[in-house]
Amino acid sequence: MSLYAIGDLHLHFQSELKAPGQLYGKVWKDHERIFKENCESLIREEDTLVLVGDHSWGKKFADCEQDLEYICALPGRKILLRGNHDMFWDVKKTEKLNELYRGRLSFLQNNYMPYGDYALVGTKGYCFEGPFYLDRYGHLVGWDEAEAARAEKLVGREIERLTMSFEAAKADGFCKFIMFLHYPPTNILQKNSAFTNLAEKYGAEQVIYGHCHGEKRFHDSIRGMKRGIRYSLVSGDCLRWHPMKVL
Ligand SMILES: [Fe+2]
Repeated sequence: MSLYAIGDLHLHFQSELKAPGQLYGKVWKDHERIFKENCESLIREEDTLVLVGDHSWGKKFADCEQDLEYICALPGRKILLRGNHDMFWDVKKTEKLNELYRGRLSFLQNNYMPYGDYALVGTKGYCFEGPFYLDRYGHLVGWDEAEAARAEKLVGREIERLTMSFEAAKADGFCKFIMFLHYPPTNILQKNSAFTNLAEKYGAEQVIYGHCHGEKRFHDSIRGMKRGIRYSLVSGDCLRWHPMKVL
């Protein structure tokens, strides 16, 4: 039995590409077929695959059904997290989605999923990504205080949701955790964040996230071991559509 993770499939069997520039790189060519083949040669029926968000470009549920069916047809148990593009997923109706796809897909939000003696916990997360950048002298350019403050509110809401996920698992006796986010746990300026603090507080062994696309973004946040926790970016283009083995 193995646990795998990947994110950001950005499927569009029924919907228009909303950011075609982002998806026209070589790595995105025929990625649906390549990813399916990789899953079929790697993942067995007893394995679990966590998809860390941005499943579909579809805005409404009706525009995503074929994308979700594609995910259903992949081998193993599939657990889905919400990404910033997953408009079809009303956070207040997660239970409905879990009922609708019972036995086929599991939706991770304000709840947890057991995996052996581990609890898989997670939420979309959030971090202020700008637009801002460091110029060649290392000076911060374009930082917007008002936007950063607005982002902090969103972080607070996501921290509440993630805490709910950890606490639900703890109440059921779990003490080993793997934490999933869609957004990176920190932005390019941060060394730590409310998310890394929460991972440390609950003793998560790993933090796994997506969202960062293109070579230039792959090192926006923490990767590798930091303060006893392994951080991994699993966006599909970063992994070249090979799911990462978590456990
Ligand atoms: Fe994405």
